[in-house]
Amino acid sequence: MDNKGTRIIIGSDHAAFQMKTKVTSFLEAQGLVVEDAGPGSESSVDYPDFGMRVAASISNGDFSRGILMCGTGIGMSMVANRFPRVRAALCGDLFAAKMSRRHNDANILVMGGRVIGDVLAMEIVKTWLETPFEGGRHGLRLKKFDVIEPIS
Ligand code: RB5
Repeated sequence: MDNKGTRIIIGSDHAAFQMKTKVTSFLEAQGLVVEDAGPGSESSVDYPDFGMRVAASISNGDFSRGILMCGTGIGMSMVANRFPRVRAALCGDLFAAKMSRRHNDANILVMGGRVIGDVLAMEIVKTWLETPFEGGRHGLRLKKFDVIEPIS
């Protein structure tokens, strides 16, 4: 991956704690700097508490990319997309990972730790980080989000 030095914030709940650990090791091995928003163990937690940490960091501009994981990825997606300027994409395959970057300029990748295996998860992360936004008409479409979500 050609993202050496890229800072990325990552969070999960208990259901995807193992996946978070593996994704963190994978990213660090590629030279990325990973900020772990927690949790620190597999004890049961509430996913909104960790989803909001990551989403707030993207929303306020502290980080430009984040990764969230829970059992299905659904709860984390719901939480993250409530934050202004967050475009969180739940991806369970490589096509979704690629298109969420190309067309949607997704700034948070969401995965389901109980849905996909670790090997696919790493491939999704790699694809998502390497794929650029196409801009153009897709940028104009994203601008329309501002009508729904007034800049704050
Ligand atoms: C936790 O049991 C589970 O509900 C959570 O990980 C997630 O799948 C929610 O969307």
